[in-house]
Amino acid sequence: MNTKHLLLGQTFEVTGDPFTAPWKDTVRVNSAGAVLLVGGHIAAVGQAETLRAAHPDAEVADYGQHMICPGFIDAHVHYPQTAIIASWGKQLIDWLNTYTFPEEMRFGDPDYARAIADRYLELTLAQGTTTVCSFTTIHPASVDAFFAAAAARGLRTVAGKTCMDRNAPEGLRDTAQTAYDDSKALLNRWQGRERASYAITPRFSPTSTPEQLAALGALWAEHPDCLMQTHLSEQVPEIAWMRSLYPQARDYLETYEAHGLLGPRAIYGHAIHLEPREIDRITDCGAALAHCPTSNSFIGSGLMDVAGLAARGIPLGLASDTGGGSSFSMLRTMAAAYEIAQLRGTALHPAQLMYLATAGAARSLYLHDRIGRLAPGIEADLTILDLASTPAIAQRSAEAKDIWEALFPTLMMGDDRAIADVWIGGERRPKTA
Ligand code: GUN
Ligand code: ZN
Repeated sequence: MNTKHLLLGQTFEVTGDPFTAPWKDTVRVNSAGAVLLVGGHIAAVGQAETLRAAHPDAEVADYGQHMICPGFIDAHVHYPQTAIIASWGKQLIDWLNTYTFPEEMRFGDPDYARAIADRYLELTLAQGTTTVCSFTTIHPASVDAFFAAAAARGLRTVAGKTCMDRNAPEGLRDTAQTAYDDSKALLNRWQGRERASYAITPRFSPTSTPEQLAALGALWAEHPDCLMQTHLSEQVPEIAWMRSLYPQARDYLETYEAHGLLGPRAIYGHAIHLEPREIDRITDCGAALAHCPTSNSFIGSGLMDVAGLAARGIPLGLASDTGGGSSFSMLRTMAAAYEIAQLRGTALHPAQLMYLATAGAARSLYLHDRIGRLAPGIEADLTILDLASTPAIAQRSAEAKDIWEALFPTLMMGDDRAIADVWIGGERRPKTA
């Protein structure tokens, strides 16, 4: 079991935040690199020649010109929406009522929940994603199903029971008390077990009463080691709806803040239409944001100011938001992040895009000491990228003047064919899993 593996290839290394410091000082690619894996962790990162000489007993996987990257991390997903991804023609509130809530109702059946959890994790692993932070449904069994499916694959994951006690159909509502009780039982069962982390998960202010938000805020205060995930300022009609439900709140963030749901280890999905006060509070509190670019265009939400927010030092993770997002692939999600930033007048560098999908996402989930980088002591979840995976990409990368030019076509046009291999906890994932 405790085999030493030495992976050779081009290594993608991150030492800082390429949004608050020049990217050249924080991210680099070593074209003759190597990563040594021992006991499920990265033991060393360095020159191929040096590590090979120092570890003649290691089993070698030579990836040539492929890029050895940290496994991709998806900072905000809804695994129960796997079967309704790419549903046509609706914006957020209608999309929830038409497609999402009827599908989430099916998770009352634990067998269905487990089948979708398995399907979801196979689909995302095929795209090189090794950690996700997922919403579930109101059913506790949907949380158990997800964590059990992740544990069966050795994956590090974050998830929590999605809580809603109003503005959702009968059968998809809990109460303030049952949300508290169920979430507490689930976090006691899963937090820190194998590679699981629990996130207290009010869906969003419009589907929770103030009583439910307060109960979940109290639970978080009792368990500050847990994450807290929810949605914030995604669409303009949603914000108007929130205002009608919380007339005393100065802004959307205050609906959470007033109920103990703002602080470090909070991660808010979308965060597109923010007021200056909200940005200041998020920055001051050390809370994190998840950028969901395919979702934000697919359901017509708007253009997040990713470069501006990241420059403030806010921890920012990239996210597919499956199934509001239209893809399981973090490569496709990086392409969408690039396109949305372009529409706002900024060209994100490939180093910044890769950061958002690896170390940046790990930081947004407070897992930066465990995953998201190639560095000694970090868990050995790795994705190996083929930078010439299709004829269209290969003819482009063949002409590249440097590694960033060689990588960029894969970020823009790559799909699961670019994922040459995936390593989970120091073991290579069988190709035909
Ligand atoms: N806001 C509240 N619930 C959801 C959801 O399931 N998806 C998205 N994109 N936004 C939400
Ligand atoms: Zn979401």
